[in-house]
Amino acid sequence: MIFVRAVVIACLIPTSLGLWPQPQESKHGNKTVWLHPSAKFTYETEPAEDVEVTNYFSPFGGFDGVRDFLQIPWLMQDHHGDKPLPSVDRLIRNAIKRTQKEIRSSKFVPWKFHPRNELFEPVQNKQDAVIRQVNIREKATNIPTEKIRDFIEGSENYQIKISADGEATITSDSPIATLRALQTFLQLFYTHSSGSGIYTPHAPISITDAPKWRYRGLNLDISRNSFMPQDLKRTIDAMASTKMNRLHVHATDSQSWPLDIPSMPSLAAKGAYHTGLVWSASDLWDLQLYGLERGVSVFLEIDLPGHTASIGYAFPDLVSAFLEEPWHTYTLEPPSGQIKLNSSAVYEFLDKLMDDLLPRVSPFTRYFHTGGDELNLNTYLLDETVKSNNSETIRPLLQKMVMHVHNKIRDAGLIPIVWEEMAIQWNLTLSSSSSSSNKPDVLVQAWRESAAVKKVLEKGYRTIFGPGDAWYLDCGYGSFFNPKPNSTTVRRPFLDWCAPLKNWRYMYVYDPLAGIPKDLQPLLEGGEAHMWSENVDPIVMDAMIWPRAAAAAEVLWTGPRTTEHIQDASYRLGEWRERAVIDSGVGASVVQMTYCLMREGSCEA
Ligand SMILES: *[C@@H]1O[C@H](CO)[C@@H](O)[C@H](O)[C@H]1NC(C)=O
Ligand SMILES: *[C@@H]1O[C@H](CO)[C@@H](O)[C@H](O)[C@H]1NC(C)=O
Ligand SMILES: *[C@@H]1O[C@H](CO)[C@@H](O)[C@H](O)[C@H]1NC(C)=O
Ligand SMILES: *[C@@H]1O[C@H](CO)[C@@H](O)[C@H](O)[C@H]1NC(C)=O
Ligand SMILES: *[C@@H]1O[C@H](CO)[C@@H](O)[C@H](O)[C@H]1NC(C)=O
Repeated sequence: MIFVRAVVIACLIPTSLGLWPQPQESKHGNKTVWLHPSAKFTYETEPAEDVEVTNYFSPFGGFDGVRDFLQIPWLMQDHHGDKPLPSVDRLIRNAIKRTQKEIRSSKFVPWKFHPRNELFEPVQNKQDAVIRQVNIREKATNIPTEKIRDFIEGSENYQIKISADGEATITSDSPIATLRALQTFLQLFYTHSSGSGIYTPHAPISITDAPKWRYRGLNLDISRNSFMPQDLKRTIDAMASTKMNRLHVHATDSQSWPLDIPSMPSLAAKGAYHTGLVWSASDLWDLQLYGLERGVSVFLEIDLPGHTASIGYAFPDLVSAFLEEPWHTYTLEPPSGQIKLNSSAVYEFLDKLMDDLLPRVSPFTRYFHTGGDELNLNTYLLDETVKSNNSETIRPLLQKMVMHVHNKIRDAGLIPIVWEEMAIQWNLTLSSSSSSSNKPDVLVQAWRESAAVKKVLEKGYRTIFGPGDAWYLDCGYGSFFNPKPNSTTVRRPFLDWCAPLKNWRYMYVYDPLAGIPKDLQPLLEGGEAHMWSENVDPIVMDAMIWPRAAAAAEVLWTGPRTTEHIQDASYRLGEWRERAVIDSGVGASVVQMTYCLMREGSCEA
């Protein structure tokens, strides 16, 4: 009786695959197929070598460092820290194990997406098909093997097929495509509330997928407030589940310098908010490896030459207008202070900083961000190496410093990234000097407003979008300033500069291509959502970042969305959010009230 009722209701209720982000193409039916709890995942790469992943019950999610180190000697050249790097093959095998474990231990029962008290779950039945084996075939057409980090740049195209009789196949273009496919595969299955099974109600399933943009990022500021490694790892987990692939860590700013630079230990010892809140070299190594294992390239921003007051706690002689008052003459956010612009001591400092940092990041990422936003000119009136606030005087000094640092970054095989001001306000020459050189070229990140994207593109730079009027996650939470008595600038209702809050629907329908001429569109690398941390710390970060960054992630993966997509998105994003909260411990905010998600009636207005 119960079985019959479940089937009848399934006839009436339209269902969709609860996938986030939406694949480019998908088809599905309505047959239930169960996933056997110890289904084997086979992993075969071309040239074919069928190797079973046997260590199914291992709770072990990391890599077997010692074994890899002994087995794969060629990787030793990538070894810059105290720990070895795994091979790409090992990364993928671990990801397969992790996915198996995540599916098996999932507690996500999607009651919230069916009318109240509906018996929506299938009743296990001898005739139902069971998946006993999942075959993963990787075409290996696109594996850059020079450095392990480059596997993230491979083709991300994949297909998933699950037949009505329980045959399951994943076909992928490369190792990174296998990782992306596993995330999709996981989202196809639900746990039965009886605890007795894992199923999809949607067989047969056919998915063909590929990303719209290859750069799908999140920028997280760890300077204005302090964040711990586990906070960023949890964020990487959530990013990976939305197929985001770049974690931009805004590592330092005027307020604090939390990043240890072992060749200059006083920098973080004095510049961090507390000696206990320093990211050690090994914390950084672990975080980057954690990201790499999940297909997320973690890269650092050291914002230069503005936003550098915190260097002054250790090296006051390098910083002009350090802690000068009134601060608003010298900066947009206290405290004031910028590194001196024409000082050989500053150049020595920058060389030492880059020589220390670049070898520790280059095994993991192709990128290094040198900032360049919100330069204050009056600071250079007090800088004895400049003594001027004239932009004509400052521009060549800025050009020289940026080129100097970028050349070091290029020499380390990395791609420099800068904020838009360097290109559109300062008109700097940012490309590498010899156009014939095959060294990687700069990326420019537009941020102030949507219109800036086009301005950067018109300068001919490869461009990252994600402007303050669309993809800033901190907007609308209010100004961090307290009002002076009778202040005329900080007034009720104490709004921040980019208020109001950008809710998930607003972020979802931001169209990066709007107003961008067709011939410039190929220069768009992709985009980033931004989490500046004046008003954020680890306690509230999950709810501020998620699910809104996931809304941006679907734009980046699937392509621009319109308001017509929102209704369906609310169910799919709703499912993503429940999985994040229930299975990943990510305290994501609410997508919509339960009544709407339950499909009892329309919530359209
Ligand atoms: C399943 O799909 C088939 C083909 O579209 C349809 O004829 C059938 O009524 C559906 N069955 C249920 C239980 O929804
Ligand atoms: C920069 O410093 C050099 C050497 O100290 C000096 O000759 C030059 O005038 C300075 N440039 C500016 C613009 O102050
Ligand atoms: C430059 O400094 C002078 C004072 O020396 C000030 O009057 C002027 O407003 C400043 N210019 C800028 C662009 O801040
Ligand atoms: C850069 O160019 C823009 C227009 O192209 C101009 O308005 C601006 O003043 C220039 N800035 C500098 C520092 O030369
Ligand atoms: C603020 O304004 C009130 C009323 O205009 C005035 O009485 C008071 O002295 C002012 N306070 C300060 C600190 O300027």
